[in-house]
Amino acid sequence: MTTLAPVLTSTLDRDRSWTLATYRQHGGYEALRTALRQEPAQIIDTVKASGLRGRGGAGFPTGLKWSFLPKPDGGPRYLVVNADESEPGTCKDVPLMLGNPQALIEGVVITSYAIGCHHAFIYLRGEVVHVYRRLLAAVAEARAAGFLGKNILGSGFDLEVTVHAGAGAYICGEETALLDSLEGRRGQPRLKPPFPAVAGLYARPTVVNNVESIASVPSIVRGGADWFTSMGTARSAGFGFFSLSGHVTRPGQYEAPLGITLRELLDMAGGIRAGHRLKFWTPGGSSTPILTEEHLDVPLDYESVAGAGSMLATRALQVFDETTSVVRCVTRWLDFYAHESCGKCTPCREGTYWLKQVLHRLEAGKGVEGDVDLLLDVSSNIFGRSFCALGDAAATPVSSAIKHFRSEFEAGMHTPAWELFPYAASAVFAEGER
Ligand SMILES: Cc1cc2nc3c(=O)[nH]c(=O)nc-3n(C[C@H](O)[C@H](O)[C@H](O)COP(=O)(O)O)c2cc1C
Ligand code: SF4
Repeated sequence: MTTLAPVLTSTLDRDRSWTLATYRQHGGYEALRTALRQEPAQIIDTVKASGLRGRGGAGFPTGLKWSFLPKPDGGPRYLVVNADESEPGTCKDVPLMLGNPQALIEGVVITSYAIGCHHAFIYLRGEVVHVYRRLLAAVAEARAAGFLGKNILGSGFDLEVTVHAGAGAYICGEETALLDSLEGRRGQPRLKPPFPAVAGLYARPTVVNNVESIASVPSIVRGGADWFTSMGTARSAGFGFFSLSGHVTRPGQYEAPLGITLRELLDMAGGIRAGHRLKFWTPGGSSTPILTEEHLDVPLDYESVAGAGSMLATRALQVFDETTSVVRCVTRWLDFYAHESCGKCTPCREGTYWLKQVLHRLEAGKGVEGDVDLLLDVSSNIFGRSFCALGDAAATPVSSAIKHFRSEFEAGMHTPAWELFPYAASAVFAEGER
């Protein structure tokens, strides 16, 4: 039986958990003192040994990414924290920055010291104005206490942090589009190589990491690599957020070792809402192929979820019961992807629009013969042929939903989804509560 592993969430029930005072009462910034006594290379080695993998989706080893930066040449190098969090279902970084922003800032200072950066950026999704204000206040508090600015804690290390509010585009979460946006241009992905480690922000060596990745760093410096690898699995070490949403009795953030199963998480969350049963779920947000009841015992680590035909990604567990129309759900996701496609490449720009059109007619019960195969054909022409991973993200929910629920799509040739699955039955909130 796996139990929760509260680390980043351990102080969220404390009075004013977001303040520097509360953070320090619970050991905050002790890891920074330890780190500043070490050589930068030693910190990179610790993070490598911990096996921490990027929490932004792709799961790339964090310490290895840092070690890709070329040798210092006297010019600037940057750390950019990806706080864009826009994937449908993904809701971990925003609550973390709201409840425990100092863990992120301490992680930023330690990481910057490790990679030789003197100006770090946090690129935040602009709509979350309350988080923007909180981050600005947290940076000011950390600076006033000597954890940012010149000669941090007397170490001779200097660091400035800029919190940048984006304008709210999903594509600006893709690391190179983010860098273009941060430079003041329209956010569209760049051709790789060169990778950001070589030519990133202002064409200088840059590390781009997710909020949760960076916020996990102080705990690794404090607890050590062995402590971190004592949780999780051999190749998916440590703890992470599992965000349960949808038809769950107690939705929310569950911080647990990687490798926990959805069945275990549902037990902790009071199960599927009363009187209903699981129909399908996403392991990591809307861009990961959907899974069903038969996958309840798949360990939620990178390898096992991939083995089940999906991706762990951001551990955004969207849970849907039998009242949900899979056609309606996938149609809403495609509305999102078609809207957020940046238009740079043809398969994604045109393909998401076509998928959306076909899905809408199936949802309305006005599908025509061949529509389901057309969806599969368009999806396969987007997948692997797009300029960035947004195209793949749009194609996978369609093909995986048809794989598991083809008959529901075929029913769209004669019956509207709202007749087969009335809205009121699947609504999470009663009328008037919304
Ligand atoms: C369309 C798209 C949106 C993305 N959105 C985010 C995001 O909001 N936050 C994030 O950390 N990574 C996002 N990513 C992944 C980033 O490109 C990048 O892999 C990540 O920030 C690296 O951090 P990590 O190694 O710490 O996971 C997105 C990727 C794509 C293709
Ligand atoms: S895949 Fe979509 S989002 Fe990515 S570059 Fe092409 S059009 Fe833009």
